[in-house]
Amino acid sequence: MSKLEDIRTHALSLIEGVSDLLVLDNARTKILGRKSELSLFLRSLKDMPPENQRGVGAAANALRAELEELFEEKRRELSAASYESVLKGERIDVTRPGLKHARGHIHPISRVIKDIVSIFSSMGFEVVEGPEVETEYYNFDALNIPANHPARDMWDTFWLKPESRTHADSISADGRGKLQRESAMEKSQRGSALLLRTHTSPVQVRYMENHNPPLKIIVPGRAYRYEATDASHEFQFFQLEGLVVDRQISIANFKGVIQEFFSRLFKKEIIVRLRPSFFPFVEPGFEVDISCVACAGAGCSICKKSGWLELAGAGMVHQNVFKAAGYTPGEWQGFAFGFGIDRIAMMKYKIPDIRLFHSGDLRFLKQF
Ligand code: FA5
Repeated sequence: MSKLEDIRTHALSLIEGVSDLLVLDNARTKILGRKSELSLFLRSLKDMPPENQRGVGAAANALRAELEELFEEKRRELSAASYESVLKGERIDVTRPGLKHARGHIHPISRVIKDIVSIFSSMGFEVVEGPEVETEYYNFDALNIPANHPARDMWDTFWLKPESRTHADSISADGRGKLQRESAMEKSQRGSALLLRTHTSPVQVRYMENHNPPLKIIVPGRAYRYEATDASHEFQFFQLEGLVVDRQISIANFKGVIQEFFSRLFKKEIIVRLRPSFFPFVEPGFEVDISCVACAGAGCSICKKSGWLELAGAGMVHQNVFKAAGYTPGEWQGFAFGFGIDRIAMMKYKIPDIRLFHSGDLRFLKQF
């Protein structure tokens, strides 16, 4: 019987000293588990003289029941304490300042497109979109650049494999850049190879196929060229196409519109200079320079000391382009132009390398 007393004393002091649930579990296994002293003692009862078995057995079982109850009581006590401490830790402090959500930024190119669209819209231009996956027909043929003509080399092209033919075939430009039913002209050109458009000029013909003059549109959008990149060249960039067609449109109209546009965009007086140049879809064609926005023509590092910045190609729409669109040649005249939007953004925000726009570098983007 003194053996049972020893077990009891040991168990009570163990339970008394336990302060967490895991330790309590271990102590329970030690005192009441299969290999515990008490279990071994109960198993050894059968070897005792029969006259002792009944009394000692009853005492051992009573001790077991008592200890089980004590362990259970201690478990309830520790559980209640730990629940209370969790509640304390989770208490909501309504006076604490909230967490600030980081706000996104409008990309500098999107900002410039927004500014450009707002200026041209105020001058009565409609904003039009067209597909980036384009047919060879609209990118070249319809723009007076026949197959195998050396002028195609002006634009290094990403050609798409024939099986990647997409919905470009069934898209045509309308006022809001919506999908439309395939036009008669597109049906006839369905066999044309696919490419990533090298400029936004194909939208000129797509739009004119479905709209009669007078018309004034701008086309902001991506263009792609298979060329090595450097600080001012990317393989994907944005262009802004412009097209105005009516009975008596002249180069003077173009110069007036473009000078007004740049002066409003850069918020200072800008002088435009036209230099003769060649693009197969205009005649005559010219390069458009503007007086340097940094030095106003005096000469600096941005304009390479020339006082001028080259920004766009432009010209009077070639009659063959009107013909491709289904207009009667000789009946209409108009001007068209194509700017690099990335380069305008570089100038507006003094960005030294075009590759920063698509680098995904947050240190760059967070400045805008
Ligand atoms: C054209 O793409 C003609 N479609 C423009 C045009 C439209 C002429 C209508 C006549 C009538 P060009 O290849 O020069 O032309 O490109 C026009 C502008 O796009 C350039 O002045 C430049 O600002 C921009 N650009 C061209 N290539 C790149 C490039 N790799 N990276 C960034 N910008 C570019």
